[in-house]
Amino acid sequence: MTRVLVVGREGQVARALLRRLPRDGHAVVALEPPELDLTRPDTIAAALREHRPALVVNAAAYTAVDRAEEQPDLADAVNNLGVGALAAAAAATGAPMVHFSTDYVFDGLGGAPYAEDAATNPLGVYGVTKLAGERAALAAQPRSAILRTAWVCSPDGGNFVKTMLRLAAERDELRVVADQRGAPTFADDLAEAVAAMLPRLLAAPAGDEAFGVFHLTGAPHATWHGFATAIVAGATARGHGRNPRVTAITTAEFPTRARRPADGRLDCGRIGRVHGIRPADWRVSLDRCLDALLMPPTGGAQGETT
Ligand SMILES: NC(=O)c1ccc[n+]([C@@H]2O[C@H](COP(=O)([O-])OP(=O)(O)OC[C@H]3O[C@@H](n4cnc5c(N)ncnc54)[C@H](OP(=O)(O)O)[C@@H]3O)[C@@H](O)[C@H]2O)c1
Repeated sequence: MTRVLVVGREGQVARALLRRLPRDGHAVVALEPPELDLTRPDTIAAALREHRPALVVNAAAYTAVDRAEEQPDLADAVNNLGVGALAAAAAATGAPMVHFSTDYVFDGLGGAPYAEDAATNPLGVYGVTKLAGERAALAAQPRSAILRTAWVCSPDGGNFVKTMLRLAAERDELRVVADQRGAPTFADDLAEAVAAMLPRLLAAPAGDEAFGVFHLTGAPHATWHGFATAIVAGATARGHGRNPRVTAITTAEFPTRARRPADGRLDCGRIGRVHGIRPADWRVSLDRCLDALLMPPTGGAQGETT
């Protein structure tokens, strides 16, 4: 039995890890503020001392991309300084770390899927702080695996799938950006990858190729408009919403506070070569997510009467 400390408890990825890792017999403790607050190093050190995990998985982050532009210090405290403190505490305990990062470390101008070692150039505060957090993690705990991902969705929390479902019930037309490319990624697929990587991460020494930066998103690549179209089709097939028309618009027609990479596609080759993990087909994962959100659980079969 492996003791795993998950940082974050209510987030999408944290909840997926809490569903998945116990199935392999791991003892999982998930902590959030006030017990473990990434902006308070004293709580980090105390949590690691108390729980002495064999592995730390950081699923917590300041993820409000637009709000980060107004709260750069808080975003940096969580996504950079807190991650560095967590990695240092993990190293002091001898625990390797899994940490999540983002395609927003890139500017989206590369014109092709980004390899793990491609030059970074974040466009906004969120991406800047996440990139700094990657470096802080690897500096303080070289036995860290950084999983850069994108467009994370799940039945939990707020995300694009749930926004589209809400709007599909209210409107006859959805206007969705069609000039940003990336890949939807479901939190359960990220948790599955962590479960698959876990034994090797525990055993591998510093310097092993098991650690470092990896890309992991769903496949195939898509636009937000393509993703929305699939969500509406799946919802309509399940009797949800008004089957709205999904109209393609440009980023210029949907201004946001923070700039996003226009083409954040990630090449997920290294995690396949090193850990044998292939991107999951997000269309299959979307089906599961829509079933969880829209299909009422079927009642059990009526018991036999005698
Ligand atoms: N969501 C995406 O589309 C996306 C895309 C690319 C990469 N990622 C990365 O994937 C990882 C998981 O994302 P997610 O979608 O699961 O995020 P999420 O649902 O927003 O959850 C993040 C969690 O972190 C917690 N948190 C915030 N500040 C904290 C602090 N100071 N100390 C401890 N916990 C704190 C939040 O708690 P409160 O809610 O109480 O603040 C929340 O429970 C993150 O590293 C994120 O950067 C996400």
